[in-house]
Amino acid sequence: MNALSGKDLLSILDLTPESAGDLLDLADQVKGTPRAFSTALSGKVMAMIFEKPSLRTRVTFESGMFSLGGMAIYLSQDQVRMGDREPDYDVARNLTRWVQIIVARTYSHQTLLDLAQEATIPVINALSDWEHPCQALADFQTIRESFGKSKVTVTFVGDGNNVCHSLLLLGVMLGYRMRVACPKGYEPRHEIVRQAQSLAEASGGSVTIGHDPCALAKDSQVLYTDVWTSMGQEKEHEKRLRDFQGFQLNRELLALAAPEARVMHCLPAHRGEEITDDIIESEASVLYDQAENRLHSQKALLLRVLGEV
Ligand code: CP
Ligand code: NVA
Repeated sequence: MNALSGKDLLSILDLTPESAGDLLDLADQVKGTPRAFSTALSGKVMAMIFEKPSLRTRVTFESGMFSLGGMAIYLSQDQVRMGDREPDYDVARNLTRWVQIIVARTYSHQTLLDLAQEATIPVINALSDWEHPCQALADFQTIRESFGKSKVTVTFVGDGNNVCHSLLLLGVMLGYRMRVACPKGYEPRHEIVRQAQSLAEASGGSVTIGHDPCALAKDSQVLYTDVWTSMGQEKEHEKRLRDFQGFQLNRELLALAAPEARVMHCLPAHRGEEITDDIIESEASVLYDQAENRLHSQKALLLRVLGEV
C-alpha cells in the first residue's frame, strides 16, 4: 500500500489517520527486524537536495536507503545552486529522468511545492520553513514506545515553527491531546491551527494554544521543545532570546508535568536557551531515541512509497 494520498509527503496532511498509523506500525517492525527489509529497495536511487545543513535527516535517509538495498545521492546547495545555476523546475525535470525519489530540505516551502509540481516521482519534505513531517513520524514512534497507543497529552513549549506544525498536525490526526505554549506573536500559523482543529474533530483529539507554559505543562505526559531561532532566522537571534524568556524547558517546568513525563527535542539543541543540560541528560529525556527513530520511521516511509511491502 502507498502511505500517501498523492505522490508526495510535503505535509502531514498528505497522510491519513490510517496510513500514519500503518507507517508507525511498519517503523516498529523495521526497527525490530531490519534485516527482513535489506533488499526491499534494491536498485532504487534517491536524490537528496539540501539547501540547509543537517546531521540527523541526511544520515538517516542515506543510511536508511542503503540498508534497504538502495542508494542515495546527496546534492548540497553549493553543488546544485537551485534557483541560481538553474530553476527548481529544471532540477525536478532532470532528476525525474534518473532517480526514483527526491528528498529535499529547503528554505521556502514554495520551493518544495515547485519541485513536486514538476517531478513525476515522489518528493519528500526533509524540512522546510513550514513543516518537518519526517521528524513528527519519528516523534510519535518514540511517544508510542513510552506510552503505547494511549492518547496522552503532548505539550510543545516554544516557537510555533515547522517542527511544532508537523507535531501538532500528526498528533491530532492520531487522536492525541495537543497543547502549544508560545510567546505572543510566535503562535503556530492560523492555517495550521485551523487544520489541526478540523483533524481533532474527526479523531477525538484536541488542540489548545496558549501563552502560559506552566499552566499548559501541568499534567502533560510529554514536554517537547525546539530551538527559538530556526535556520534562516539567525538575524533575529537577539530579539528571540528576549521574547522567549520564561519558555525554557527546565527542571521547574518538568516538575509541573505528569510524574511519568518524557522530555523531547528534535535536535540540534541550543543548550541553555530553550532547554537545560540537566533535562537533556535526565531520566525523562528520550531525545536520542527520537533521533534513532528518524532512521526506522523514514525507512518505513521509503518502503511504503517505493517498495512492494
Ligand atoms: N532534527 C533534525 O532534522 O536534525 P538535522 O537538522 O540535523 O537533520
Ligand atoms: N526548527 C528548526 C528545526 C531543525 C531540525 C529549524 O528549522 O532550524
